Parts: sequence; C-alpha cells; structure tokens
Amino acid sequence: MKMDVLLGLQWGDEGKGKVVDVLAPKYEIVARFQGGPNAGHTLEFDGIKHVLHQIPSGIFRSNILNIVGNGVVLDPIIFKKEIDGLAKFDIDYQKNLVISKKATIIIPTHKLLDAAYEKSKGDQKIGSTLKGIGPTYQDKIGRSALRVGDLLSPDFLQQYQALVQKHKTILSFYDYPLDELAEMEKSFFQAVDFVKGLNLIDSEYVVNEALAEGKKILAEGAQGSLLDIDFGSYPFVTSSTTMTAGACTGLGVAPSRIGEVFGIFKAYCTRVGSGPFPTELFDQDGEDMRKEGNEFGSTTGRPRRCGWLDLPALRYSIMINGVTQLFMMKGDVLNIFEEIKVCTHYELPSGERIDKLSFEISQLNVKPVYKTMKGWNCSLKGIREYEKFPEELKAYVEYLEQELGVPINLVSIGPDREQTILK
Ligand code: GDP
Ligand code: IMO
Ligand code: MG
Repeated sequence: MKMDVLLGLQWGDEGKGKVVDVLAPKYEIVARFQGGPNAGHTLEFDGIKHVLHQIPSGIFRSNILNIVGNGVVLDPIIFKKEIDGLAKFDIDYQKNLVISKKATIIIPTHKLLDAAYEKSKGDQKIGSTLKGIGPTYQDKIGRSALRVGDLLSPDFLQQYQALVQKHKTILSFYDYPLDELAEMEKSFFQAVDFVKGLNLIDSEYVVNEALAEGKKILAEGAQGSLLDIDFGSYPFVTSSTTMTAGACTGLGVAPSRIGEVFGIFKAYCTRVGSGPFPTELFDQDGEDMRKEGNEFGSTTGRPRRCGWLDLPALRYSIMINGVTQLFMMKGDVLNIFEEIKVCTHYELPSGERIDKLSFEISQLNVKPVYKTMKGWNCSLKGIREYEKFPEELKAYVEYLEQELGVPINLVSIGPDREQTILK
C-alpha cells in the first residue's frame, strides 16, 4: 500500500482541513508531517466550524488514527488548549491520537525569539505567526532542540533549562524583555504533564507497519508549497519542507511509498504575511474577494492579501510536488465577478515575458499578464453535481486543467463538507 499526500500549492489556507475531513472516511490513518501551530485548518460540518492547529484533521472520525509525525514542531500549551476545546466531542485521545517521540517541542523562549527576530527585521519582517516555528526548527537543525520523547526523561528539567539559558543569551543580545516568561513557563509545565499522558510513540514504525498491512494513510500538509523553506519566496517562507518530500522525512516513509499527491489550490490566491505576490490586488476587486471569501487568518485573524490565480506559480508547485490530482477550492467566491482573470505569464520591465519562478524573480519587479474569462456571476447554492455547474465555471475548470496538465477532480463551492463536488 502507498501513502497519499495532500498539500497546499499556494501560500497556505487553500482549504486543506476541509478536504482532509471530506476524504478521511477513505483512510485509516491521517498524519501531519511538518509545521506546527502556525497552521489553522478549518473544518465545517453539522453547522459547526472547527479550526485545528496541530491535531490532524481526521480527529472527528472515530475510526481514524491521527498521527502527529516527527517532522512537526509541537507546542504543548496550544496542543492542550486544542484538546480542551474539543471536550464536547466524544473523542478517545488514547485510541485516536498518537504523537511521535521524535517530534520537536516548541518551548516558551522559542516564541520570544520569534518576536525578537521579527522586531529586529523592521520593514523586512517575515510576518511570522509568532508561534516560535522558525526558532524551533533552527534548534532542531542546530541539534540542540528538545523532542517529545525527552519529556519522559528524568533529566528533562535540566535539558530544558540548558536550552532556555542559551535562548536568554540570544534574547539579551536583542534586548528583548523576559517579563512574560514566568507565566508562559507555568502554562508550559502544566501542558507538558498533560502531553506526557498521551500516547507517545515511534510513529515511523506505526506508519510503515500500517502500509505493510495494506492500510490507507493520508499525509496532511500544512502551509503551502510557495512557503516551502527551499522553493518558496525565501526568506518570506516558513521553516519547514512543505512539499511532498517533507511527507517522507516528516513521517519516515520512503519516496517509493508515495501514492497519489493531491494538490489543493484556491480558485484565486491569498497570502498572509510579507513577501512577493505578483497578482495581488489593491483595488475594489481585492477587497471584494477578501470579503466574499472571508479571507482573514484562521490562526492570527490577520486580513489575507488577495489576488487572481497565478498559473506560473501553480505549475511550479505541481512540478516540485509531483501532483497527480488537483482540487480547486472556494470556486463560489468568484461568483461575484463578471470577469475573472488568470495570470498566464509575468512581464519584465523590458517587456520580455517569462513564466518561470527563477532565483531572481523576487528582485525582477514583474507584472502579471492576464487572460480574462467571462465569469458565471451567479449563485452556486444547492448545486451538487459538476454537470449542473454554469458553463462559464466549467470553462474555467477545463481551461485550468488544460494549462496545468493535471485533472481537477474536486471543486469546492462552500466551506461545508456537503459543498464538495467530485468531477
Ligand atoms: P487550510 O489552512 O488550508 O486548512 O485553510 P483554512 O482553514 O486556513 O482556510 C480556508 C477557509 O476557507 C476556511 O475558513 C474554510 O472554512 C473556508 N473554505 C474551504 N473551502 C471553501 C469553499 O469552497 N468555499 C468557501 N466559501 N469557503 C471555503
Ligand atoms: P496553513 O496550514 C498561511 C505564513 C506566515 C508568514 C510565514 C512564516 O493554515 O495553511 P511562520 O509562523 O511559519 O514562521 O510564518 O508563513 N504562514 C502561513 N500562511 N497559512 C499557514 O498555514 C501558514 N503558516 C505560516 O503568515 O508569512
Ligand atoms: Mg489555514
């Protein structure tokens, strides 16, 4: 059996949580492989909306095992809060949720460091979610991080204090105040006690044994390919490998074991935080898109920057991920437009047209070149079959399939589970 991977092809918030929830009944395991509480994955069903940050999106299905993989950075405080917030659902955490002992722990000073680094960058700040993601991955790669398995060690407190000491030295260099630390540490140690009581495992064995037994696994990506540490718009990226390859390292699965790669994209683009965004709209269309799509961050509440779909960027993400199926999200948000634009190329100041995301692109001051299509400009309410879509929406989907060379097998036209159309 092979492991399928589901990931975002843009700058995050494509609707991954919704699709994992919709696909989950086809799987026995859902596993997160990277990122941490910078993610906010929204699920809507039975008239209720849930935002998950670190818990995999299969958690509401009682027969699914949810794995927090080794590639994840885990904040015990936020994790405990998330679980407390789900108290009204009858979820058996001992049975349905396991955490890799090799996942890395976010400690309070990682969050202070995140804030200190951002402050020091001034205008050039990344726009981090300030959840401590960058500093934690920095410690992981620097070989000084604490891991979930360390929580069980009798020396944990000493290990923790040694790391905090190192962080305090850096924080004093940045002249960053430590006033909040005592309060944060109190919550941290309470949360650590809670996490120690959960099911902490060597998840690479669980995953590989499950595959050997023929069980179906879905790896749930966080963030998006254009925020990938290597291939995103560096340095305006997150600190993990958000692409398919990250599912291999973040779960301990061999590349030859990857099956379908589901690439999720919005019918337009959004981005939170700083960094290049060639098709960004600063006019009324951008405002309307934000309003219609309710484009405000699930984790930070920040307004998301909005713009038209960017084909060169999407093609790039499809290439680096080996996407086998595309899922187009938030089609309904474009209902409001009489005309819809799609960026086909970028134009350089010299007039030359390019369609590659080269190393230099962020310095090149590119202008998007658009193809304009007729919008459907009507409600999609109640539609449950692809064939019933307005002709203009079908033309949009089919144009994208032709341009991208990968089938669009699912079109989402609303946040609810039910508003999902298979093609
Ligand atoms: P994720 O991070 O990729 O899981 O996406 P987020 O949950 O951060 O953001 C996606 C937002 O769009 C959430 O508020 C979803 O409820 C919502 N959403 C998902 N699919 C659709 C859709 O097809 N139409 C509309 N209008 N909203 C959607
Ligand atoms: P999901 O999984 C959208 C963005 C931040 C910032 C940059 C770095 O919900 O799609 P970080 O906190 O990781 O150091 O921030 O990445 N970012 C996201 N944007 N969706 C996300 O996750 C994101 N996670 C991080 O806004 O620009
Ligand atoms: Mg999100």
